[in-house]
Amino acid sequence: MAELLELARTAPSGANLQPGRFIALTGAPLAALVTDLAVALDAGRPTVSEYGWFPDPMPDVLKARQRDAGHALYAALGVEKRDLAGRRAQFRRNYRFFDAPVGIVVTLDRAMGPGAFLDLGMALQTLQLAAIGAGLASCGIGALANHADVVQESLGIPAHELVICGMAIGFEDPTAPANATRTTRAALGDYAELRGFD
Ligand SMILES: Cc1cc2nc3c(=O)[nH]c(=O)nc-3n(C[C@H](O)[C@H](O)[C@H](O)COP(=O)(O)O)c2cc1C
Repeated sequence: MAELLELARTAPSGANLQPGRFIALTGAPLAALVTDLAVALDAGRPTVSEYGWFPDPMPDVLKARQRDAGHALYAALGVEKRDLAGRRAQFRRNYRFFDAPVGIVVTLDRAMGPGAFLDLGMALQTLQLAAIGAGLASCGIGALANHADVVQESLGIPAHELVICGMAIGFEDPTAPANATRTTRAALGDYAELRGFD
C-alpha cells in the first residue's frame, strides 16, 4: 500500500500543492470503521451532503446515463428493478468497502479551492492504475461521503478536513456477478469538438 500511495502521489497537481490525505485501513482498523458505519446505517442515521455530484434539476441526458449505469449493475447482479431490498443490499456494500481487504478514506482540507478536486482526481486515478499494475483491482466509493460524519467520528478526522470519498482495493473476483457490469460512454461528438483538424 505504501508503494501504491507513493505512486499516487506522483500525480501532477496545480502548483504542485499535492492536496488531499489518504487514510489506508486494513484488518482491525478497517473492521472498526465498517462496524461504525453499519451501526449508523442500522440506526437510520440521516445522510449528509457537503458536496454533490448531481445538478438539481438533473438534465435528462444525465438521468439516462445514471439510469443506464444502474441498470447495467443490477442486471449483472440479477436484481430486479422493483427489488428495493436487493438494491439496498447492494448499496450497503459500499459501506463495507465491498469486502475488500483494504479501504482508503480520502480527505481534503476544507480551505482548499475547488481546483483541488482536480488534483485529487488525478491522484485517485493514478492510485487505481498503480493498483492494476500491481495485479489488484479497485472501486471508488463516492457513497462514503453520504456518511462523512460517521467516518469523521470513527477515524478521528479533524473538522477542517472534508471526507471526499472512499476507495476499495483488493483482488478482482472475476466470478463475482457485479464484475460482469459493463458501462458505455457517450459518443465523441457529445462531449468533444475537434476544430481545425481536417
Ligand atoms: C470518484 C468515483 C466515485 C465512485 N463512487 C462509487 C460508489 O460510491 N459506489 C459504486 O458502486 N461505484 C462507484 N464508482 C464507480 C462508478 O460507478 C463507475 O466507475 C462508473 O459507473 C463507470 O463504470 P466503469 O468504471 O466500469 O467504467 C465511483 C467511481 C469514481 C471515479
